[in-house]
Amino acid sequence: QVAAASGHTVVLVDQSDEILKKSTKGIEESLKRVTKKKFADKPEAGAEFIEKTLKNITTSTDAVAVVHSTDLVIEAIVENQEVKNELFKRLDKFAPEHTIFASNTSSLQITELANSTTRQDRFGGLHFFNPVPMMKLVEVIKTPMTSQKTFESLVDFGKAVGKSPVSCKDTPGFIVNRLLVPYMMEAVRLFERGDASKEDIDVAMKLGAGYPMGPFELLDYVGLDTSKFIIDGWHSLEPNNPLFTPSPLLNKLVEEKKLGKKTGEGFYKYK
Ligand code: 3HC
Repeated sequence: QVAAASGHTVVLVDQSDEILKKSTKGIEESLKRVTKKKFADKPEAGAEFIEKTLKNITTSTDAVAVVHSTDLVIEAIVENQEVKNELFKRLDKFAPEHTIFASNTSSLQITELANSTTRQDRFGGLHFFNPVPMMKLVEVIKTPMTSQKTFESLVDFGKAVGKSPVSCKDTPGFIVNRLLVPYMMEAVRLFERGDASKEDIDVAMKLGAGYPMGPFELLDYVGLDTSKFIIDGWHSLEPNNPLFTPSPLLNKLVEEKKLGKKTGEGFYKYK
């Protein structure tokens, strides 16, 4: 959405036409929200902006078929190293020489992903934040193998889609998640110990620390499955780090398929 809105030609790839239909609808809804604010007193210009943006987006279920005419691949699939490696390995065979590969992973090592391809110098991290149309940050991750040219192209792309890039080495969680995820897990532990209610913890962090959302609202928003993937991955890397200890409550909710806002229930109910 943000790439198309800033004039880039985008092919959105997913596993089925049904998912793509849902995604396109989500983009339309999101564009309407952005436009309502941005073009508050110019509805015609707003409608034109939506039309132009949507024209920049086509969809496909065949990544291999579209990658031959792609300058930049931004992968944002399931947070699983093997599945991501498999996709990159396949795309690497069909992508042009100059094509840069980037992953939007929240927690996995970019270096390991890059090693599944033959283009380690043209590989980096581009990590966006929910909701992407609103959050101004993008983290640009440079591995020891990422060339300076690739790094600069990724920074330029971040700026071209209207974001403020910051750079970080290929370290677990980069900047934001390395601080944010342990904070959210500490909130869950505070609640699990019965020290405070989740509602009070959320109010406390909003009114006492100025956060736009409390940790439980944010966990539901990010997705409890994604949060669990992140913490489990880090726990297996550093089993003795208390900040990375998995939470029985989070595990239980995920097992019950209560994944947050997207499924209608997580820590809170949304139905
Ligand atoms: N698309 C487009 N516009 C959106 C939007 C979306 N998905 N969500 C919100 N907006 C815009 C709309 O313009 C909306 O106006 P509207 O109500 O007229 O449609 C405006 O934001 C305000 O939204 P709300 O009134 O619903 O609520 P807020 O003022 O609280 O803002 C928020 C919503 C921007 C989501 C704010 O609560 C916020 O900043 N929350 C924190 C988000 C955060 O911490 N994100 C990082 C998560 S970590 C992450 O993503 C990393 C990953 O790796 C895990």
